[in-house]
Formats: sequence, structure tokens, C-alpha cells
Amino acid sequence: MPIFEDHLPALLARHRDRSIAFTTDLASGVTRCEAIFIAVGTPQGDTGAADLSYVEAVVSEIARAISGYKVIVEKSTVPVYTNEWIRRVLHRHGVDPASFDVVSNPEFLREGTAIIDFLHPDRIVVGAANERSADVLRRIYEPLTGGAYYNQPGALPGPCSVEHPAKLLVTSAQSAEIIKHASNAFLALKISFINAVANLAETVDADIEDIAIGMGLDSRIGPRFLRAGLGYGGSCFPKDVAAFHWVAQQRGVNFQLLQEVRKINETQKDIFFNKVLSALWTLRGKRLAALGLAFKGDTDDIRESPAIDLIKRLLEAGATVTAYDPAAMERSKAVLPPSDKLHYASDLYAAAKDADAVLILTDWKEFATIDLVRLNQAVRFPIVIDGRNLYKPQDMFENGFTYVSVGRTASYQAQQGKPRSAVL
Ligand SMILES: NC(=O)c1ccc[n+]([C@@H]2O[C@H](COP(=O)([O-])OP(=O)(O)OC[C@H]3O[C@@H](n4cnc5c(N)ncnc54)[C@H](O)[C@@H]3O)[C@@H](O)[C@H]2O)c1
Repeated sequence: MPIFEDHLPALLARHRDRSIAFTTDLASGVTRCEAIFIAVGTPQGDTGAADLSYVEAVVSEIARAISGYKVIVEKSTVPVYTNEWIRRVLHRHGVDPASFDVVSNPEFLREGTAIIDFLHPDRIVVGAANERSADVLRRIYEPLTGGAYYNQPGALPGPCSVEHPAKLLVTSAQSAEIIKHASNAFLALKISFINAVANLAETVDADIEDIAIGMGLDSRIGPRFLRAGLGYGGSCFPKDVAAFHWVAQQRGVNFQLLQEVRKINETQKDIFFNKVLSALWTLRGKRLAALGLAFKGDTDDIRESPAIDLIKRLLEAGATVTAYDPAAMERSKAVLPPSDKLHYASDLYAAAKDADAVLILTDWKEFATIDLVRLNQAVRFPIVIDGRNLYKPQDMFENGFTYVSVGRTASYQAQQGKPRSAVL
């Protein structure tokens, strides 16, 4: 598998050469299919706008291969009116407008739980200009919306069921495009909001975890995405917030709130860097264990990972970093500058060996269940700086650690040094 994703290897093994085939011959794929899903990357361009050149390139290729009626489905996250641009590109290539429809079908899955999210979606959104193309999408998703999938032998369990199948919402293409951008921007906003509250909580000795529980119990708010920490990263939120802001600007709408969401997120990384600095005083020559490289747990994706940014800054400041991640080490080696100050360990305890401080940068389950006695024995100084709030400060304190986290009062051990024999 080119990516780390639960269930994907098993599904591929089951369906390969039966109901899924791979080809580099786009024309043959297009000829054989009724619906063509475009899922190419839409990265952030220099202006903040989404770079749609991959979408345009693939649409031009499709245009050359079209024969008979096709539904072209935008699965990539794209700015509003991309459906119109796809249509125009096809026209420019001389494709008969009667021979295709363009439908927006944004994807809401999360990396790490992509398969379950896809099979048990909160909703399926279909943005279509007419019933003919909407019906093609309805047929494609029928096993999920009709519930038949959930009764099938080997069906993966999740929140949907025969009684409560997936919901499908049909809108205009523009509305569907905006639903995706607005949803991601809103989730990013929730994260930035709780991070801003976390910064306030720290100054008044309040506990952001209690605050988040108290807020999240309000059913109008909900508990999800109220996790204070290092800030969001990944291949979606940063670029989608920027692209949505750009779209609003283009349409003469001042959506300043999105700028603030982004700024709070950037500041959050600086705040964490300063926490490391204030726990250790100086960084040159310090040995740091970095637990986590991926932008979040359960994935090997390091795109826009706050952990990667932070490690670069620590190296620049003269620290020596030993990193460990259960899945993202190979990818990280390709982007982190090779340095005699950067090492990779085969497990978290090896990373922590003789460390002046342990930094938790990704919310892998493995990092939430550390054997604290073993960790304490491994480190040089028992200092944990947790950018994901995976522990209760009291537990860490009782296990002998100085513990610094986000939105909670840091607990410092009066006596930080370990007995000399333990250090040796
Ligand atoms: N990753 C996610 O969690 C996620 C979730 C929802 C939506 N999305 C959206 O889905 C889109 C793809 O995201 P991703 O993370 O899979 O990106 P990715 O960069 O990992 O994958 C894109 C793929 O498109 C291929 N590609 C590029 N040009 C092509 C062409 N002309 N013909 C055929 N293939 C081509 C690339 O080789 C690459 O394999 C983006 O718009 C993203 O915003 C991603």
C-alpha cells in the first residue's frame, strides 16, 4: 500500500482484479465507465487559492477520451464554480455538452479512519444540475443509502446500519462545493477556538480539558474537535481554510474570521516552541525525544504536520532530536533535513533514552499508554512537554515527571534530577 490506512490492504486484497482494476491508460478507463471520479490533489497555490492545474490536466485528458454519456464527478476539494470550469474546459475541447454532466461529490473522510468514514458517512453530498446525473450518483451510493451494504457478510461495522443507513443530500453543484470548504473551515475554527481558550485558561489556572468537556456536553456545540494542542495540520485544513478565504475575497466578501483561524493556528506552534524553551531554558546541545511526526495519529501523512515544523525549529536552535513515529518515519526522512543532530529510534523508549525532555507531538494511541516507570528510567531528566494533552497532569506528577501541556497549569517537580545511579 502506498499509504497507511486501516482496512485498506484487506479490502484491496479482496477486490483486486475482481471489482477494482488499475490502469495508467486513462482513455480505456473513461471508455468503460459511466461515472468518472476526479480525486487529484488540489494543493495550496502561492496566493492561498487552490492550485487547480491537476484538475484541469485530467479534465483535458478526459475530454480527449469521452465517448457516450458520462458523469464527471468532482471528488477533490475544489473552490465554488470549479464545476463550471470543468464544463468550460470540456466545451473548449469540443466535447458535446449533451454527452456529459459535472457533479460535485465532496469527500468528508478523515485520514486514519478513511474506510469507515466512507462506508458509514455522516452524509453524502451530491451537487448536481439535473436529475439524470443525480440519479447516477444515487445508484452508486445505493448500497449505503439503501442499507444493503450493512447486511452484507464481511461488511465493516460502524455507525450506519440497515435501520439507519447513510443519508444522501442533493444540492446544486455550487452549494456542494461550498459545503465542503465551509465544513473544513468550521472544523478548523473549532480547533483554533479551543486553542485560544486554552491560552486563556493557562493564565488563570483553569483546565482546558474540563472546559472542553463542559462546553462539549452542550449538544449545540458537541465534544468533537474541541481538543486543545499544537494546532491543526494535514493536507486539508490549512489549504482549505486558505482557499475558502481566497474564494470569499474573489467574490467581494470579507471573511476575516478565516484569517484569524489561520493566525491562531500558526501562533499555537510558536507557543508550544516557547513552552519547550521555558521548560529547558536553552536548547543548544539539549537532547530531545520527539514522539510523533504525522500530523495526527493513525496516519503516516506528514503534510503540514506541526511536529515536522517544530522539529525543524528545534534543530535550528541547536537541539539534538531523536524522533519516533509508529508509521511516518520513512516519509519524514524525505522532508526533514539530514543532520547529525537528528536521529530516528525504533520505539518510543529508545527515543527517550537519555533525553533532557520528551515531547509528545502526535496523538497516537501508543503515546497515550506509555509505561511511565519505564519512560522515567530511560530519560535523563523526567520532563514531558505534551502538545496533545494525552495525560492527566496529576498522574504525570505522581510518576515523577515535570509535565507541561496545553491550556493547563504546568506541574514542576521540586527535585528534577534523578538519583545519580539512575542517570548513570
Ligand atoms: N486526504 C484526505 O484526507 C482528503 C479528505 C477529503 C478530501 N480530500 C481531497 O481529495 C483530493 C486528493 O487528496 P489526497 O490527499 O488524496 O491527495 P494526494 O496528493 O495524496 O493524491 C492525489 C493523486 O492524484 C494523482 N494525480 C495527479 N494528477 C493526475 C492526473 N492528471 N491523472 C491521474 N492522476 C493524477 C497523483 O498522482 C496522486 O496520486 C484533494 O482535493 C483533497 O483536498 C482529501
